[in-house]
Amino acid sequence: MSTPGAAHSDAASIKPHTGKLGIMIPGMGAVATTLIAGVEAIRQGMAKPIGSLTQMGTIRLGKRTDGNSPLIKDFVDIAPLEDLVFTGWDIFGGNLYDAAKTAQVLDRDTLQAIRPFLESIQPMPAAFDQHYVKRLTAQHQKIGKNKCDLANQIRNDIAEFKTKTDRQVMIWCGSTEIFMEQTEVHQSLAAFEKGLVDDDPGITPSMLYAWAALKEGIPFANGAPNLTVDIPALNELSRKMNAPICGKDFKTGQTFLKTVLAPAFKTRMLGVSGWYSTNILGNRDGEVLDDPESFKTKEVSKLGVLEYIFQPHLHPDLYKDLYHKVRINYYPPRGDNKEGWDNIDIFGWLGYPMQIKVDFLCRDSILAAPLALDLVLFMDLAARTSTLKGLGIQEWLSFYFKDPDHAKEVYPEHDLFIQSMKLKNTLRHIMGQDLITHLGLDYYGE
Ligand SMILES: NC(=O)c1ccc[n+]([C@@H]2O[C@H](COP(=O)([O-])OP(=O)(O)OC[C@H]3O[C@@H](n4cnc5c(N)ncnc54)[C@H](O)[C@@H]3O)[C@@H](O)[C@H]2O)c1
Repeated sequence: MSTPGAAHSDAASIKPHTGKLGIMIPGMGAVATTLIAGVEAIRQGMAKPIGSLTQMGTIRLGKRTDGNSPLIKDFVDIAPLEDLVFTGWDIFGGNLYDAAKTAQVLDRDTLQAIRPFLESIQPMPAAFDQHYVKRLTAQHQKIGKNKCDLANQIRNDIAEFKTKTDRQVMIWCGSTEIFMEQTEVHQSLAAFEKGLVDDDPGITPSMLYAWAALKEGIPFANGAPNLTVDIPALNELSRKMNAPICGKDFKTGQTFLKTVLAPAFKTRMLGVSGWYSTNILGNRDGEVLDDPESFKTKEVSKLGVLEYIFQPHLHPDLYKDLYHKVRINYYPPRGDNKEGWDNIDIFGWLGYPMQIKVDFLCRDSILAAPLALDLVLFMDLAARTSTLKGLGIQEWLSFYFKDPDHAKEVYPEHDLFIQSMKLKNTLRHIMGQDLITHLGLDYYGE
């Protein structure tokens, strides 16, 4: 691996990426099949990895006058797409060709061209409990005497996959579980592991997968807003096993735009009195979110961002009375092609009101797949990097999440551009390069 640009401080030690990288996915629905089919289509030269920072992004090194902006994948040692091997679990059996057809995201021609590859992957039976996802009924599920037994069955699946791959990363692309708050069982690893044996209701299926992955020393990322690893017990396990964790809920559509627009208003000191966001979508995710308990989990994740970006305690005249509302409506005719509307009531000089309307006709899984790809590649990098792997939470990956994980003492960073700078400076840092502060004074004067 060549390293463009001279190193200026101590670089971290990064184990090389040799061998196969196994991607383990609980929940092989629309996002997972779009990710896997997309990677194969790209490997076969049929398409480009658009939307993926690891594949298409560049990173500036040194001064603007140096003209040195290599591709990120040429700068840090990221596993190449050729090395990726996929497996996973789902409550629906069959193979991924059928699952991708059901999801109706990719067109027939693309799916036909990679059909044998997709047919070769069959989800393993899931650890599932309908109490946590009310709208789905399992057809393909593990049977165990308690949650500990189910989690150990997942560990056995992982152990088996370890014999076929050299390193592994797990990413939850499963449905959104019902809203959960932390209880006693989440407060320590000891309490959690006792709770597994006691079938504690605070332990959800996504936590079983996360526990199994971390116990096996495997990084875990969460594409959904579920509580999952966002509890002291699994934070503890992550640090103990040097197995990275990050945030939750992919920041793909409406929230992605929100975390671009809100910092723009704030940076110009424009006030906001109301922000009404509504969505219609008709995929299985939309059906699951039609259940009020799953919607609550998503709602909390979507609502959090403005509070942190606007900091109303610092700017009461501008944001104290902001009315923020988020709705999601299940509307089958649209399938995966979500429409997200935002009505934003802002005010300017002397308090004069103005309005902004955003109508984002997006494709949910087309936006999510490249984020999932970047996350598994960056989580693998973190697990191989001396200065990152023992940290537990990888805050530098906040860029990808509606609800980034963060140290207890700090608030999460939601501004997309601060997140992007944090991510790129982390890459510069581990490679021993100067950080870029955008100060730029040294271009002027003598
Ligand atoms: N697509 C986006 O833009 C986006 C953005 C943010 C978050 N998400 C989240 O990503 C997740 C996946 O989205 P999707 O559109 O692929 O949904 P989907 O319904 O198509 O796929 C989810 C899959 O998870 C499976 N599943 C549910 N519980 C499981 C369990 N315990 N074990 C194994 N499998 C299980 C379901 O059977 C289903 O096939 C959802 O939680 C969604 O909210 C998606």
